[in-house]
Formats: sequence, structure tokens, C-alpha cells
Amino acid sequence: MPTYSTPADVNDGFRHLVGILEYSSAHTAAVCKLAVQSANLRPGDNILDIGTGHGEVLALTKPSIGSGMCVGVDAVNGFLQTDAPFRLQRSQLHVAPCGTAETQVHLLLASATHANLPNFIRSRLQRPGILFNAIFAIQILHTIPPD
Ligand SMILES: C[S@@+](CC[C@H](N)C(=O)[O-])C[C@H]1O[C@@H](n2cnc3c(N)ncnc32)[C@H](O)[C@@H]1O
Repeated sequence: MPTYSTPADVNDGFRHLVGILEYSSAHTAAVCKLAVQSANLRPGDNILDIGTGHGEVLALTKPSIGSGMCVGVDAVNGFLQTDAPFRLQRSQLHVAPCGTAETQVHLLLASATHANLPNFIRSRLQRPGILFNAIFAIQILHTIPPD
């Protein structure tokens, strides 16, 4: 399995799946559902999904956390522009700045290998003190270099 060090590498590895990611892996929804159930989320929790892809985890978590912040990060802009909004719309959720605190999901373009991902996310959200109650990284860790 190849690993991807830079956003350009991630783009090269995944961009062929833009528009079809949800349908390219039959077991994805079940894996995401199991992970979300395991997290025991509560209203008001903040969640971060790294390598969100088509946003399945975002769609499954947001109803449980209510007005808590729901944030998806991906290095491939096509997933954030196409796949995730399509999936969120099916669950009556909206990409920020649209929607209310109860329906709004934040999508950010960033790589898991960013030198300071926590501070980058906080600055983009304009929430310098935000902490996340659960961080998901599903079907992505094996593509990140060990260092
Ligand atoms: C196999 S898909 C999994 C999507 C989603 N997590 C799921 O399980 O349904 C892998 C996702 O991780 C993203 N990704 C891979 N490497 C990344 C990195 N270094 N930083 C951010 N996103 C990355 C890809 O663009 C793709 O959307």
C-alpha cells in the first residue's frame, strides 16, 4: 500500500475517486457506523473527521452532537466540493456557512501531514480554544507515512 507525504501526493492517489467515493467501497458505511457508535457521542460534543472523503462520518455524527462542532478535513478538494456536500444534503445537513448550529458542518482543505494541523484547524474555524471530544481517521492511517 503506498503512502502519501504531501497534499499533491494525496491528490494523485485519490482524485480518480472524486464523485464516486461513496460507491467505491461497499463496506465503508458499516465501518463508519461502527466507529461512530463506539464514540458514544453526546449533544454538545465537538468532532473532527480527518480524511473525511464523502463525509459519511459527518452525516452520522452531527445528529448526535446537536450544536456541537462537526468538522471534516480532507486533502482532496474534489471530495469537499462534490462528494461530502452531496452526502450531507441527503441527511438534511449543510456546509458552513449555511445552516444552523444544529445542521451545520465545517469542511476544511488540509492534509493530515500538515506541520501543525490542530492550530491550522482552530484558526480556520476561528475558534482558538476548541477541543474535540472525538477524532476519527477511518481508512486513511495506512496511507500516512510513519514519520
Ligand atoms: C479511503 S477514503 C476514506 C474516506 C472516509 N474516511 C471513509 O472511511 O469513508 C480516504 C480519504 O482520506 C483522504 N486522505 C488521504 N490521505 C490524506 C491526508 N494525508 N490528509 C488528508 N486527507 C487524506 C483521501 O482524500 C480520502 O478522502
